Amino acid sequence: MSFGEKVAMVHGAGGGAAGNYVGNIPANARLGIPSLNLNDGPAGVRLTDSSTTAFPAPVTLAATWDTALARQYGSQMGAQARGKGVEVLLGPMMNIARAYQAGRNFEGGSEDPELAGAISAAEINGIQSQRVIATAKHFVCNDQEILRNTISSDVDERTRQEIYYVPFLASVRAGAGAVMASYNRVNSRYACESEALNATLKKLWGFNGFVMSDWGAGFSTVGGMNNGMDMDMYSGYFPSNSITNAIRLGNVPASELDGMVNRILTTMFQFGLFDNPPIGNLTSTVTNPANNQFARSVAAEGTVLLKNSGGLLPLGSSVHSIAVIGSVASVSPISTGGGSASVNLPYNITPLAGITGRAGGGATVSYAQGDGSSLSQALQLATNSDVAIVCVGQQTSEGSDRSSLSLPAGQDTLVSAVAAANPHTVVVLYSSSATLMPWASQVAAVLVAWYPGQENGNALAQVLFGDVNPSAKLPVTFPASANQVPTSTTAQFPGVSGHVSYSEQLLVGYRWYDANNMSPLFPFGCGLSYTTFGYSNLTVSAVSPSGQVQIGFDLTNTGNLTGAEVPQLYLGFPAAAGEPPKLLKGFQRISLSSGQTQHATFNLDWQDLANWDATARGWIVTPGQFQVLVGSSSRDIRLTGSFTVSSPIPPSDLANVALHQPVTVSSTLSTNTPGSAAVDGDPTSAWTSLAADPQWIAVDLGVTRDLSRVRLCWNTNYASSYAIQISPDGTNWTAIFNTNNDVGGIEDILVSGRGRYVRIYGTVQGSSGNGYSLLELEVYSQPQRPFGGAINNLPGQIQAEAYDTGGQGVAYYDDTPGNLGGVFRSDDVDLEPTTDAGGGYDVGWIDPGEWLEYTVNVPDPSAIYSIKARVASTAAGQMRVRLDGTVLGTVQIPNTGGWQIWQTVTLTNVSIAGGCGARALRLEMLAGGFNVNWIEFDRVQICGTNNIGLK
Ligand code: BGC
Repeated sequence: MSFGEKVAMVHGAGGGAAGNYVGNIPANARLGIPSLNLNDGPAGVRLTDSSTTAFPAPVTLAATWDTALARQYGSQMGAQARGKGVEVLLGPMMNIARAYQAGRNFEGGSEDPELAGAISAAEINGIQSQRVIATAKHFVCNDQEILRNTISSDVDERTRQEIYYVPFLASVRAGAGAVMASYNRVNSRYACESEALNATLKKLWGFNGFVMSDWGAGFSTVGGMNNGMDMDMYSGYFPSNSITNAIRLGNVPASELDGMVNRILTTMFQFGLFDNPPIGNLTSTVTNPANNQFARSVAAEGTVLLKNSGGLLPLGSSVHSIAVIGSVASVSPISTGGGSASVNLPYNITPLAGITGRAGGGATVSYAQGDGSSLSQALQLATNSDVAIVCVGQQTSEGSDRSSLSLPAGQDTLVSAVAAANPHTVVVLYSSSATLMPWASQVAAVLVAWYPGQENGNALAQVLFGDVNPSAKLPVTFPASANQVPTSTTAQFPGVSGHVSYSEQLLVGYRWYDANNMSPLFPFGCGLSYTTFGYSNLTVSAVSPSGQVQIGFDLTNTGNLTGAEVPQLYLGFPAAAGEPPKLLKGFQRISLSSGQTQHATFNLDWQDLANWDATARGWIVTPGQFQVLVGSSSRDIRLTGSFTVSSPIPPSDLANVALHQPVTVSSTLSTNTPGSAAVDGDPTSAWTSLAADPQWIAVDLGVTRDLSRVRLCWNTNYASSYAIQISPDGTNWTAIFNTNNDVGGIEDILVSGRGRYVRIYGTVQGSSGNGYSLLELEVYSQPQRPFGGAINNLPGQIQAEAYDTGGQGVAYYDDTPGNLGGVFRSDDVDLEPTTDAGGGYDVGWIDPGEWLEYTVNVPDPSAIYSIKARVASTAAGQMRVRLDGTVLGTVQIPNTGGWQIWQTVTLTNVSIAGGCGARALRLEMLAGGFNVNWIEFDRVQICGTNNIGLK
């Protein structure tokens, strides 16, 4: 590919230049690369005409708590997208409904990361089942519209990991082909050039699709390219001249552009877009009656029944007259949200039309708008009817947030007046998120219909008349008052001086009300049915050594109608974990006929028990007692139990210690499939063996480590029987894991053991005669912790005496006890005073293979550095410098003429791609023997868009 051809792949067109799609990467006819059309979005395929289905908004889908339905929703939308020639669908949206005012809440809608993640993952599976690339958006903490292009969401790491990242991790695990980085900043740094793109999304989670910017969200060529942005949509930050300059000036390695193109093309191949591109175009017919039917059933299943005094609903044969009131019921129905998630409605069934149609000849239906001069008419109709149905609401949109949580335009007054006129008043709320209901105690019944799409009135009528028994549950808490909410200060929403403080930390949504012992109006997870359910026979297993727990119970439909319930599992953590009182860890929608009982189970694994440890920068399981709470909502717990974690469960770790380490293998199929391909951090390359059994791959971690996890990413040719073995010397092996019935894919295996070598020993091929093929072999050990003292900041000088200390294999590796000649600490590191005045200390090294590791803080990973080291040696040698496993360069050490005769050596033009924050800087002895007095990082170029300065 020529340079120009590569650049054309990473910069998309928007607006008119994209045809009527919202984005486009043009085809490359010379190389046979098809074009890529990108289109919204989360609520249906958004086009300039009305030729696709306006499904209910995603918040309605979230309220179903039904992952099977979410998968279907994805697959119907995916099929329509593909039928219209769209290869990349810009959804699902999974930002957390942290502030109820946020204008885009209807696009996702859940305040809970577990619910948002499960619904999004199911939807992604559905979209991608149609060979359309789904886009997990917007990464990350893009939780309001006010000042969205500049606002900094200030969020601590634990909160990001435990709340805001969770749905994105679930999406990556579901195989999302693309991620969209958001407009906002996170902790002052633009999301489109955030270290989280490389460090968290790609490295830690193993995301191997491509990252695109939101439309116009890119702000810097160098910052974007160096930090993991693969495709700039519509900003103009990845045009050819900027990329050329960035590479020519050494601000971005040329390999970065190749990597970006590679990720986009690999994803296109993965989805079969070369062999089997979509054949439809914008004029193709893609909808069918089944889509309309499905849109209606999602809307009905997502309608939450919050109150039903005296069993007013469903409306029965004794109801002969119905007053329908409110502009929202007829003249201004609210069926979709606004902005990029809007879909042109092919038709719009108003609540009045739906109710009238369903009532048929059984009841008379009359209507009054109820505002202004029609108020008295509305009250008269209400007084004279058996039932009054008042429809109220507010439409929100991308681009702005609600100014208050109250209904606008006097609608509260209207509801209270109607309720006073008729005790059988039903309120139907159309809203993107929680809304205050000062009249809740005055009315007989309350339904929340969210934004129900084109089938609005028909779906409502199904619920009102009992054709559909409601089963939806609130995906957000409805507070009792505006000052009860978790984000009640201005600093928290909409922010002050360009910063919005996520100071509620983990206390998002129901966690806040629980922690503060507040009673909301309607709690998270609540929703009534026309039948009732009983919970019994809770069983809680013991915890397995690697953290599995099974929870079982019986659910019985104790009422007279068929209906569905969504049992929810919450866990209370040991106090030392520092978690909110309870966290949702599982849910399932179960449909039962009257009198029927079903046994249900929740299977937890160690990740459900883990909390983020800010010191270790990893997930840990805190030993102690966990409370098991199973119920019908977060405040309607029916069964309680507990289990205890007594022996520690191995934590996960940030660092894959097998990365770039030496590998030996039993055989390789070809020179293109060497063993090293399994530890290169690149899941598009693989080690592949010959077909005869057994076959193995062994990695030398370089130092003895306490192992906690092995992650295997199998290619199509996996092992159905294999062992994970460890060894201290590469000769004597002990198995720490065996399996005989594996099915390949990504396997994340908790192990425990201590060793320097790790071997995967395959004995039975998953597909006989094909050998074994591993895309990645990752090994995780206990997190590295700085022993003490301050973290070294770069640029700056790290003195020998400042190195971290700790056990062998943690902060240094020195396997020769008591080296001769130096001044040794108890841990055998040679730390001695220099003999020159003011020289401080030096570290002495003589054995190749030893290393020292320092924790450093990298504030600007896009800058270019020169690295200097003050060294002394009696023989020429070599030192290699790595940052988090990536080699920054190798320094030649001269023979300076003596162990205390000092010279400064320099490594120029070093780029530290990929992330700021605490990183592991490792100095490795490759050859020779020498003392190091200090090592210094000087920034020689500060890389913003264009500015180059000298230090
Ligand atoms: C929105 C994205 C959307 C894009 C393209 C942006 O304004 O934030 O969600 O996918 O436009 O329409």
